[in-house]
Order: sequence, then structure tokens, then C-alpha cells
Amino acid sequence: MSGRVFAVASGKGGVGKTTTAVNVAAVMAEADRSVVLVDADLGMANVDHVVACDESATATLHDVLADDAALTDATAAAPAGFDVIVGGTTITDFGRADPSALPDVAATLRDRYDCVIVDTGGGLSHDTTVPLGLADETVLVSTRQTAALANTAKTRALVERVGGHVAGAVVTRVTDDAGGADAGHGDAAAATLQTDILGLIPEDSRVADSERAGTPLVSLAPESPAAQAYRELAYTLLDEPLPVSFRDGDASGDAASGLMAASAPSGAPTDDGSGAGAATGDDQTRDASILWRLTGGLLGSNGKR
Ligand SMILES: Nc1ncnc2c1ncn2[C@@H]1O[C@H](COP(=O)(O)OP(=O)(O)O)[C@@H](O)[C@H]1O
Ligand SMILES: [Mg+2]
Repeated sequence: MSGRVFAVASGKGGVGKTTTAVNVAAVMAEADRSVVLVDADLGMANVDHVVACDESATATLHDVLADDAALTDATAAAPAGFDVIVGGTTITDFGRADPSALPDVAATLRDRYDCVIVDTGGGLSHDTTVPLGLADETVLVSTRQTAALANTAKTRALVERVGGHVAGAVVTRVTDDAGGADAGHGDAAAATLQTDILGLIPEDSRVADSERAGTPLVSLAPESPAAQAYRELAYTLLDEPLPVSFRDGDASGDAASGLMAASAPSGAPTDDGSGAGAATGDDQTRDASILWRLTGGLLGSNGKR
């Protein structure tokens, strides 16, 4: 099997990348693909805040990237029929994980799944750049805010610089405050980002409900406006027409009811793993290495030298 790898990326955090990654993964699973979502926002892993996974993972992606665990140990099942490579959440995890091991992780997953969705962190640091180079397609995510678009334009340039390919952009949290639905929202974004707009995701209060429930929006509220937009986006990425049962807002088809039947998880993990505790020598070395990475080598030290 040689699955397709999609990176979900933006210049800024908080614009809807994880929400997009989770819902695209859920729709692709609904479309009978085997799907894995990789929580590769190494600094702020939070897929499990958006979708509650089962308890089957005994390790995290960070352990895998530190060569301390096998990929299967970091694999959990999400309620909508896809797997998740869960991320570690502590600062120590961030220091241990080596982003340059990500291409090997992606190659292994490509052999095991039809679709590999890689959720990334914002910004231009090494750990956010690696996924852009290894993915077949990068999906840019931005809100309509000028600053978010400007930052995401940088991400677009970066994708090209690392030899990746931009599939297009998704504009999230769109409201029709500027004179009616679709009132040029896509046009302005397309002009700034210089790429095709793959979808406009409306601002939708059900997104917050889905986070509380730990269930992807497309499963929890398949007929909500954002769920419909995410479904269209995922089929666009699969390069397939939307199934008839989902056209014209009719989400009452079998696929939707099947997903609705997926069991709700028993509750999202609550340990935020903030890593509080006594600092050891090891921690200090790791902190120095984190600083080194975050500042591009200006501060801290690269433990490898
Ligand atoms: N279409 C939407 N409508 C309403 N709220 C949204 C929508 N998309 C995302 N959000 C909210 O925006 C916040 C950031 O989303 P998230 O997907 O975590 O962004 P990122 O991964 O880019 O940091 C979350 O609180 C999420 O609930
Ligand atoms: Mg995120």
C-alpha cells in the first residue's frame, strides 16, 4: 500500500488546523479509507482535546521520535473509525522528540494506511517545517484575519522551499458579516495566499459541542454547516464526488447515521501533563536544547554538539 500523506499547516496557532485535521480524517474514514491522524504539533500536541481516543496507546509520537517506542505503541483509536498517533504533552517530551525522525514515521504509516493526515504546529521552526517536506500535499489553514493570512503566506512559501506541494487553502471560521455568504472571503484569501481555496468553513457553535463530546463534528452533527463544509473539503482532497446522500445538505444518509452510532468516548483525557516537577540535570540539558531549537541556535545549546 502506498497511502497519501496530507499535512495540515498554518502560520499561526488557533486558526482551526486540528479541527480541520480531525474532521477530514473522520470523513475519509467515512469514505472507507483506512486513515491515521498524526499529532505532529510537537510543541502543543492537542488532538486528544478535540477527539477523545481510546486508551490503547502506551506511548506517544514523542517517544517514537526519541527512539524509545514503536509506532504501534503510540497508536490509539478515535471514535469515528480512524487511528491517531498521539502526541506527548510535556515540555520534556518536546525536548526529547527528534523531528528529523518524522519522515521515517510517515514512510511506515504510508505502508499501513490509505490516508495519513499530519496535524502540524504553526510557525517556521524546524519541527513544523519537516512535515511540509515529507507530505504529498499540504493543506493550508487560515482564518480571514489579515495577520493569519500573512503568516500563512509565509508557510506557503516555506512548503515550496522544502520541496513540498500546496494542495490549496481552507479558510476557517467564516462569518457573513461582510455582506452575505461567500462575499469575496475566498477571493481575498486566494490573493494573499496565491493558491486555490479548497473550502470555506463557517463559524459554527457545534464545533465547541464536538470538542466537549470528544467526537468529530462530522460525526456528532453531520448536518451542521461546518460539518457539511468539512465533508466537501475531504472529498475534494480525495478527488471524488460527494456521495448523493450528502448532497444539498442531506446528511441523513447511511454513512451519517452509521457515524452517529459510533460510541461516544468516556471522556477526554484530563492530564495536561504540564511537566511540573523538580528540574534534574537531564531537564536542564533538554531545556537548553529546546531554547536552541526555538531561537535557531542563538540561545541554549544543541546537545548533539
Ligand atoms: N468552524 C469553527 N467554528 C467555531 N469555532 C471553531 C471553528 N474551527 C475551529 N474553532 C475553534 O477555534 C479554536 C482553535 O481551533 P484548533 O483547531 O485547535 O486550531 P489550531 O490547531 O490551528 O491551533 C478552537 O477553540 C476551536 O474550537
Ligand atoms: Mg492544533
